[in-house]
This record gives sequence, structure tokens and C-alpha cells, in this order.
Amino acid sequence: MKNIAVVTGASGGLGKEFVKLLLNYSDIDEIYALARSGEKLDNLKAEYGEKIKPYIIDLSCIDKIKVFGEYLKSNGVNIKYLINNAGYGKFGDYNDLSVDESVNMIDLNISAVVAMGLTCIPYMEKGAHIINIASQAGFQPLPYMNIYASTKAFVKNYSRGLNVELKDRGITVTAVCPGWIKTDFYKRADIGAKKNITDFSFMTTPERVAKQALKDAQRGKDISVCGIYVNICRFLTKIFPEKLVMTVWIFMQKLR
Ligand SMILES: NC(=O)c1ccc[n+]([C@@H]2O[C@H](COP(=O)([O-])OP(=O)(O)OC[C@H]3O[C@@H](n4cnc5c(N)ncnc54)[C@H](OP(=O)(O)O)[C@@H]3O)[C@@H](O)[C@H]2O)c1
Repeated sequence: MKNIAVVTGASGGLGKEFVKLLLNYSDIDEIYALARSGEKLDNLKAEYGEKIKPYIIDLSCIDKIKVFGEYLKSNGVNIKYLINNAGYGKFGDYNDLSVDESVNMIDLNISAVVAMGLTCIPYMEKGAHIINIASQAGFQPLPYMNIYASTKAFVKNYSRGLNVELKDRGITVTAVCPGWIKTDFYKRADIGAKKNITDFSFMTTPERVAKQALKDAQRGKDISVCGIYVNICRFLTKIFPEKLVMTVWIFMQKLR
């Protein structure tokens, strides 16, 4: 039976960074790299070799995740790492997105995280890790990236609760809560809305976030927060009322 890692959103950004790091793990035989773009996944394989197993999938579609479950079953695998990384946000107010666009964000950022976890857990043994990418955005409500921030609050809370439920099985679940990261995230997020997000202070690299996340998962931590700035913000959101935190956000983003 092959030991594998499953990485969603592996074709770029933070997901690709996880793939690069996991390639150095001698106990992982194959990395199942999931994303929509077959071309980018093929490039990943060309760059990093036979350990990469591309799997084209739109994770916002639950039926396709069920098909992926059948694929796992037919391959008889032992999943050492599941990295639920695929996700996206959109900047703007409630009215800038259609119903379909709003709900699709929830399908990918929330439903796929839950469905992939439930699909993969049966193939995990003691010592396996689930790493779910949430965000600093999940620490409080954030107007003008409201749905995105709300999905990430779900991922944070769900992951920590699931970590408790899986303790007996020896599987850890870690919610990763990064601040701004230098990736292509902004290409999809910036829809040219009037109420746009423009302040991306303290941006970090995907490499730093992924390294810290893997380290924290191996230590059994249920939350991974990278960098002093994000840690301070997290602390402040715990002690100050959400109304005040939102007012500071609006001020910082010059949205008044
Ligand atoms: N960048 C930031 O500032 C930041 C901060 C905090 C948290 N995060 C979180 O970090 C994670 C990774 O984002 P990123 O910054 O690396 O963004 P990115 O560069 O845009 O990468 C997103 C990845 O997700 C894949 N993806 C998007 N929609 C998909 C779908 N429907 N089905 C399957 N795969 C899909 C993309 O590949 P395809 O397009 O080929 O499908 C790509 O590989 C996300 O969960 C994001 O919310 C990002």
C-alpha cells in the first residue's frame, strides 16, 4: 500500500509550496495534486517528477469529490497528509457578486473542506495529519470580504473541533490562519469593486506559511499562526469587541 499526501489547490501559490516541501518526506511515496487546471498540474509533474500524481477536479462540486473517493478506494492508499488548501476570496460588497458566485465560494471554501476530510479519513492511520487552510480573516467579521472571512471562520472552528473528535484515532487536524500571502489570490479576489481591499500590510511568503503549518501539524497543534503581526492581531481580536475590530478594518482599508 502506498503512503500518499493529498494536496488541493496544488497547481500554484501556497498549495504548490506544500507540494515542494512534502517531496522531501521519504515516507511519502506519492503526492496527489488536485486542481482544475490540467496544464498547471502537468507542469508541476514535469518540474517535480513522478512522485506527483495530477488529478483534475473542480472541488466546488460535491459529486466530483465522491468520484475522487472512489479513485482512492481503487488505488488502496494510506493517506499521511491531507492538505485542504484550495480556496478563494472576492473583494467588494454583498451586491457585487451574483448568488451563484457567492455560493460557489462557500462550496469550495467550506463544503469541499468537509467533504474531502470525510472522504479521506477512512484511509488514514494513527499519525496522519489534516491541514485545513483557514485565514487571519476568520478571526473576526470583515465587511467587503465578508463571505470569504465567514468561510474561514468556519474552517478554523470546524478544524479545531474535528481535531478533538479525531484524537482517539491519533489523527491531528490543524487550522492554518495566515495573513496576506504573496500568491495569485489577488487576481481572483480583485473584481474592480468600488469598495475594494487595498491595504495588504505585512504580506508574507507561501514558503514561510507552509513550513510553519507542517511543523505545527507534526507537533499536534490545532492552530497554526505564522508571524508576530498575525499573532498580535489574533490576540487583539480576542480582547476587543468585534464592532471595534471591524471599525479599525474599515479605517485601515479606507472604506469610509
Ligand atoms: N493569498 C493570501 O493572502 C491568503 C491569505 C490567507 C489564506 N489564504 C488561503 O490560502 C489558500 C491558497 O490560496 P493561494 O493564496 O495560494 O491562492 P492561489 O494562488 O489563487 O491558489 C489557489 C489554488 O486553488 C485552486 N483552486 C481554485 N479553485 C478551485 C476549485 N474550484 N477546485 C479545485 N481547485 C481550485 C487553484 O488551482 P486552479 O485554478 O487550477 O483550480 C490554485 O491551485 C486558500 O484557501 C486561501 O483562501 C490565502
